[in-house]
Amino acid sequence: MKGDAALLKQAAAYRAVEFVESGMIIGLGHGSTALYALRRIAELVSRHTLEDILAIPCSLQVEHEARTRGIPLTTFDEYTRIDLTIDGADEVDPDLNLIKGGGGAMLREKIVAQASAREIIVVDESKLTPSLGTLSPVPVEVLPFGFNVETRFIEQLGAAVKVRKTLEGSPFLTDQGNLILDCTFGPIPDPPHLAAMLSERAGIVEHGLFINIATDVIVAGSKGIRHLVRSGELPA
Ligand code: A5P
Repeated sequence: MKGDAALLKQAAAYRAVEFVESGMIIGLGHGSTALYALRRIAELVSRHTLEDILAIPCSLQVEHEARTRGIPLTTFDEYTRIDLTIDGADEVDPDLNLIKGGGGAMLREKIVAQASAREIIVVDESKLTPSLGTLSPVPVEVLPFGFNVETRFIEQLGAAVKVRKTLEGSPFLTDQGNLILDCTFGPIPDPPHLAAMLSERAGIVEHGLFINIATDVIVAGSKGIRHLVRSGELPA
């Protein structure tokens, strides 16, 4: 049986899927919450409730999952604009800025998000935080070449930095073959400023601070579902 957190993730994901319409190009996010959305979309496609959709996955793992479940896929070679993406997050602040990358897919997630007219983030209420960095490290994808230089740079910004490892203890490699540095800052006073500093570094390929990217956040909690939008809150 599913635990409470799993039920909440599913509820948020299912609500987001209500915004998917036949004929859309959609982005499929990575992570356990986004996976509920993918499975729901696959179910609606197999019932022909959703028709003529094409999806762009945010990771190789999601691509495999979508293919296995019969969701028709496309690529940025065919389409450069996505109508709607559903993805998860590790942390969401009151401005709907995010930390993402717990699954290591934030580079493709950000490319997909920035190509999307609508980016719906689905979370359970444990992901809401007054300040980004309170709950999660900021994942930073770095080229293996010179990663120690970037580690030192980020430590000088005030973070404790760890190279992400697999369960077997070898370095975790992203879909692009890069390393992830998990950078624990604690509560971040100015996330846009930190995001800009990280983005300026040559060896940093991408980071998990998503500033002004989410258009909607659907939060499932013990008291029901809330739908937050960039400029306010919609009734659930
Ligand atoms: C993947 O790289 C991440 O950005 C995920 O979207 C994020 O870690 C949330 O994952 P869960 O839905 O599994 O908590």
